[in-house]
Amino acid sequence: MHAFHQNWLAAAYACAAAALLALAGCSPAVQAAGAGQASQTIDPQQAARLHQYQTEVLPTLQANCLRCHGGMNRRGGFNMSTRAALMQGGKDGAMVVLGRPEDSLLVRVINPKLPEDDPMRMPPKGDRLTDAQVAAIRKWVADGVVMDR
Ligand code: HEC
Repeated sequence: MHAFHQNWLAAAYACAAAALLALAGCSPAVQAAGAGQASQTIDPQQAARLHQYQTEVLPTLQANCLRCHGGMNRRGGFNMSTRAALMQGGKDGAMVVLGRPEDSLLVRVINPKLPEDDPMRMPPKGDRLTDAQVAAIRKWVADGVVMDR
């Protein structure tokens, strides 16, 4: 009888502890869900866009652009190593119109069809970007230039 009572108590305590843990564990998640679109970390669309940037855009920028437009380097007044700097644009003003790649100078200067002697072709020398790389940057601009830095 005594043993039964102890077991019952232990079970009751375990339940109470589980309920407390569940409460503690759940309430921040509920708050985060309530915050909705404001939180980039839990928005699946933002997460997908960030993934696209990290896998399809950033490697291209690192290989072809950032040595002149990153860190301390801002040729043409243009730094694209952070979203804030990129949105600031360069000596000629804004380079990106969010959601409108066709109106974004950033997309125009990487057009592989720009003539060899065009002073605004980017990168200025050497291999042009591939069509796939340009398409990825177009999509990134169309989707709002999501970056994690
Ligand atoms: C070797 C250095 C170098 C590399 C690499 C390079 N750029 Fe440039 N970029 C420049 C220079 C220099 C200018 C200024 C050109 C001018 O105004 O005549 C410039 C200008 C620009 C501008 C215009 C800024 C403004 O306000 O006029 C954009 C946009 C740009 N680059 C994007 C890119 C992108 C995107 C890449 C990679 C695909 C890239 N650049 C690679 C040197 C570079």
